[in-house]
Amino acid sequence: MKKHIAPLTQGLTGRLRIPGDKSVSHRSVMFSALGSTPVRITNFLHAADCLSTVACMKALGADVQMVNDTELIVTGHGLHGLQEPACILDAGNSGTTLRLLMGLLAPQPFLATFTGDASLSKRPMGRVIKPLSQMGAKIVGRKDNTLLPITVCNPGKKLHGMTYESPVASAQVKSAILLAGMFADAPTTVVEPVTSRDHTEKMLAAFGVPTEKKGTAVTICPVADDAYVAPASIEVPGDISSAAYWLVLASLVPGSRLVLENVGTNITRTGILDVLEAMGANIVRENVRTSGGEDAADLVITAAKLHGTTFGKDLMPRLIDEIPAIAVAALFAEGDTVITGAGELRVKETDRLQAIADEWNKVAPGSVEAGEDSLVIHGGTPVQCAEARSYDDHRMAMSLAILGAAGQGVIIDRPDCVNISYPVFYDTFQSFMG
Ligand code: S3P
Repeated sequence: MKKHIAPLTQGLTGRLRIPGDKSVSHRSVMFSALGSTPVRITNFLHAADCLSTVACMKALGADVQMVNDTELIVTGHGLHGLQEPACILDAGNSGTTLRLLMGLLAPQPFLATFTGDASLSKRPMGRVIKPLSQMGAKIVGRKDNTLLPITVCNPGKKLHGMTYESPVASAQVKSAILLAGMFADAPTTVVEPVTSRDHTEKMLAAFGVPTEKKGTAVTICPVADDAYVAPASIEVPGDISSAAYWLVLASLVPGSRLVLENVGTNITRTGILDVLEAMGANIVRENVRTSGGEDAADLVITAAKLHGTTFGKDLMPRLIDEIPAIAVAALFAEGDTVITGAGELRVKETDRLQAIADEWNKVAPGSVEAGEDSLVIHGGTPVQCAEARSYDDHRMAMSLAILGAAGQGVIIDRPDCVNISYPVFYDTFQSFMG
């Protein structure tokens, strides 16, 4: 099946409620499943990735009641109450499900085997297996313990606390180690090259588990059973990674004035706002508040003339998932945009660095040059309607959709992958088509 996206003929106006944050939704279910009292989770992201986490936590013994699409009640059996799954745990397309659960299950006294889809089966897992093994975990996987399928089989020994200098700035790696560290025999510290998103640290605090941050280092201490206390409820803020498509499109299409309601604005996630503002975008924060321990705001975007910019590795963890959307803004901006230190894009749901170069060059020939960890985007390159590949990668599909809408249209193959993080994306899109 292919999706034809027509050019937008009018600006984006009105108000739009952004679906729940994917990272926070995953964590809300996992952490609630370690409590012993019911947790009501609201504004949960009802999308394939988060449903993979729900299925895994059920297989591990948690009780999950869906009240409706975006509200659920999760009840666990205590910090040591996870049960050996009777089936293989399927993480689907979700790196967050797999990597965080490896950390959570590494200390548990039972065996668990993970599988995932074709994309996840190619993504590097050594970055989590290696540090967990250094803590004493027993984990085996394909290709010398680097790829799915993966089995975690702790004979019941306590893991050792340690200090780990992570070569990558990755919240999934950091979170996996911190979760394992809760069950270790001594404090565990993760040091990152640049601080990654801190939803794990923030949410653990709401469960009575403190972490200590010094520079780019985060430390967690072993957690006593009675110290882990689930909150009665968790409200998930809207996902700035989903808001990204509308931030860019409304900036580009003349006549737009759009209000995005309830967007999570955790500082470890707002790199896209900094970059778009540096490009000349007009974004105003209103109704600034906290939502479930996370910063949130309504974002008001008015169309503006954008110009190229330059950014690199220090900003990367704060906008890593938004690079495809930013690359759309860059294509329609005046002048070049230079992005460096973006090697992590090569190990996302697809090699997004190459995918951006290949697909943008179909729609706007000669517009993008990809280096090993960099992109140069020549803004203002003429665009045409073309057929482009999503690579079954949700963020590629949505970015191509806004590229077509801001330009001359686009035909996207395998468009349904948006279900991974934003199932109502095309419906919302249609509502702007007039
Ligand atoms: C995520 C962390 C990031 C991000 C992913 C979600 C998380 O991955 O790209 O979409 O929820 O922790 P890395 O940790 O690999 O950077």
